[in-house]
Order: sequence, then structure tokens, then C-alpha cells
Amino acid sequence: MGFSISNKVALVTGANRGIGKAIVESFLKHGAKKVYLAVRNTESTKGLEQEYGDRVVSLQLDVSDNASIQRAAAQAGDVDVLVNNAGILMPANSLSEHAEEVLSKELDVNVFGLIRVAKAFAATLEQNQGALVQLNSVASIKNFADLSTYSASKAASYSITQGIREQLAPKGVSVLSVHPGPIDTDMAVQAGFDGEADSTASVSEGIVNALAAGDFHLFPDTVSKQFEAAYQGYAGALIPETLTA
Ligand SMILES: NC(=O)c1ccc[n+]([C@@H]2O[C@H](COP(=O)([O-])OP(=O)(O)OC[C@H]3O[C@@H](n4cnc5c(N)ncnc54)[C@H](OP(=O)(O)O)[C@@H]3O)[C@@H](O)[C@H]2O)c1
Repeated sequence: MGFSISNKVALVTGANRGIGKAIVESFLKHGAKKVYLAVRNTESTKGLEQEYGDRVVSLQLDVSDNASIQRAAAQAGDVDVLVNNAGILMPANSLSEHAEEVLSKELDVNVFGLIRVAKAFAATLEQNQGALVQLNSVASIKNFADLSTYSASKAASYSITQGIREQLAPKGVSVLSVHPGPIDTDMAVQAGFDGEADSTASVSEGIVNALAAGDFHLFPDTVSKQFEAAYQGYAGALIPETLTA
């Protein structure tokens, strides 16, 4: 079930910077009709508004605040593709003093945030025969000890993504799980990553192509492709790429 971004209406959470901003730009480049910039602070999208005019619409949305999600969903009933990109990373290992507190915050944004936005937009996506894209990670399939709580949250969001897909794909909604390795954003700096990081465009252009191909998994960059090579046998056996009505 391929999904072309051309002439579609998208909503991207965390659209103001990093990977989210690149997704907005790639979608517009590939002919999206309109992109809702769903952000915590609508002052942060003024630059995108100036650049793209009425092809972008800023919406206040905090994925940890259900009321803001409900307001955005009521305002954006024309969404064809929902990209849940918003995420947080707070470096902590499993034995850190504040591990429980950190994990709790990461679960609230990275996992409950996904559940909240998916629930709010599921009916719209079904009605529009649309797509849901979730930013997961290589940390969804391997725990990195210094980012242990973050990895656990991304494993949980990947699991929830699979569940959402099993429910929505038979109803005609494409679901894409994106698993980047280190990407050149503020988050990579926060993670203490000081090696080579691939560009945000590798992820955003990868999403456009994976949606068109009807894929479920996307490993978009150099590091994540190494994970894909090791993971694809397992995933191929247990998590089939094709799941349609
Ligand atoms: N960069 C990487 O190496 C990498 C690798 C794998 C996966 N990922 C995933 O890719 C996604 C984007 O990461 P990034 O590197 O672009 O991160 P980033 O540069 O830290 O940007 C995070 C984005 O999420 C938004 N956000 C955070 N909490 C939010 C909330 N409660 N409600 C709404 N928006 C919120 C931020 O908004 P504010 O500006 O308001 O803070 C910002 O727009 C995340 O889900 C991340 O886990 C990143």
C-alpha cells in the first residue's frame, strides 16, 4: 500500500527543529499541499511561516498535554499523514540515581505522547485513508547502557507502533516505523554523540520514499542500515512488512 506525499495534508509534531523541521521541508519539496507545524511554542515556527507562507499552519501542541492534542485534532480534520516526531532524551543508565524519574518523563513524551496523538487522529486517518509515521530509533531494538531509559522508551514506542499498525493497516492506514541512528541534531549532542552523524535530510527523504514504497520499517542512515542488516531476518519472520486489509 504505497502512499504519495504529493497533494497531501500533513501534521508533524516537534516541527520547529531537528528531524521534524527536515520532515516539513521534505514534505513541502515533494508536493505536500499543507503541513501543520504542531509545536509547544508557536513562536518557534515563525521562520518556517515566513519561508513557506500559507503552505504551513502552526498549531500549539504538547504531546504530554492531552487537551492541546484534542484542540489540534479538532482544528486539523483534513490531515492525511500524521508524523509523531516529538521526543526527548535525558541521558541515564539503568542504575542512575534518577533513573525512575527520567524514565517516567521519557515514557510520558515518547510513549504516552504517541498513544495520545494516535488516538486523537485515528478516525481522521481512517477517513482520509492516510498514514501514520512514528519516529522510533535504533535504540528501539538495542539498549544503549548510557541511554538506557531512553532506549527502553523507544522500545516501548516501537512496540506500540506495531500494535497501532495491526489495528489501522486493515482499515487502509499506512503505518511507518522509522529507526534512525545518530542524526545531526540537538538530541545527538545531548546523547553525547561526538562521531559522524548523518543529516536530518537522510531521515526526511527516507520517510517520503518509504511511504511511497509502502514499507513498515525504515532504517534511513549509515549506522541504522547496519542494524537493519542484522535485524531483518528476525523482523521478516515475526513482523511482516505487508499487512493490509
Ligand atoms: N537525533 C538523533 O540522533 C535521533 C536518532 C533516532 C531517533 N531520533 C528521534 O527522532 C525524533 C526527533 O529527534 P531530534 O533529534 O530532531 O530531536 P531534537 O533536536 O531534540 O528536537 C526534539 C523536538 O521534539 C519536540 N518536543 C519535545 N518534547 C515535546 C513535547 N512534549 N511536545 C511536543 N514537542 C516536543 C521539541 O520541541 P521544543 O523545541 O519545544 O523543545 C523539538 O521540536 C525524536 O523522537 C527522537 O527520539 C533522533
